[in-house]
Amino acid sequence: MPDSRVPRLRRFLVCEPRHFAVQYSINPWMHPDTPVDVDLAQDQWQELIRAYRSHGHTVDTVEPVAALPDMVFAANCALVLGGRVLGSLFHAPERRPESTAYDAWFKSAGYEVFRSESVCEGEGDLVPTGRYLLAGTGFRTTREAHRQAQEFFGVPVISLQLVDPRFYHLDTALFVLEDGSDGSAGNIAYYPEAFSPGSRAVLARLYPDAVIATREDAMAFGLNSVSDGRHVFISPRAKELADQLARQGYVPVPVDLSEFQKAGGGIKCVTQEIRS
Ligand code: ARG
Repeated sequence: MPDSRVPRLRRFLVCEPRHFAVQYSINPWMHPDTPVDVDLAQDQWQELIRAYRSHGHTVDTVEPVAALPDMVFAANCALVLGGRVLGSLFHAPERRPESTAYDAWFKSAGYEVFRSESVCEGEGDLVPTGRYLLAGTGFRTTREAHRQAQEFFGVPVISLQLVDPRFYHLDTALFVLEDGSDGSAGNIAYYPEAFSPGSRAVLARLYPDAVIATREDAMAFGLNSVSDGRHVFISPRAKELADQLARQGYVPVPVDLSEFQKAGGGIKCVTQEIRS
């Protein structure tokens, strides 16, 4: 374990939850009858943005669109790697129009967007680590989109089969602790039961030192965390996981996004990383 873990400063894109709501149900967490406290959601979201900025990260915002309550989940809009943007094709018709709003942001920021031809939900299912692009499938992003991502980015894709509808996006069951920017393989944390036996074996082979989370941690959205290599922005209810990380020299930064969990999202879901 390194004496002192070094953070790498990031550039994030986020979308203010001004129009956040649960109006339809496209994952098992969403119950349109359960009210969302929009003021509380705003406060929780602002807290996250403050936490990012106070740790030195750059945060850009995209203007929210009134009729798109899930647009706050910025991670799903694209994968940006090496300055190349693979724009999403959302699974749910309710979310498809988000692409127009996000495309406009990318264009204004000087990026060209390549639109996925097969269902693909950006960083929700495509997670770059040091050497690979870990790619989830089973509920949203297709294997065809995995092949396309490998071709587009020229990074080896590792397809992983998700099997539990509660963990419908890869980023609900796994996050990157160390992104391998030092040339190493990096490291991850994950919840094995969210994956098929074969995919579990692949993860164990690639990441023998991974941090393994409990179901409780995973259900608390503990794996929907953002790490800068030192600080881990994490749900305060994922206690065991935070303790494990602290023992390994990481610094957990608890931020509670409980309102967003009513829509099936947490810290990582509302955070898109722009890797220039
Ligand atoms: N309600 C959204 C959906 O089901 C939540 C998206 C969460 N995002 C994520 N990256 N896991 O599409």
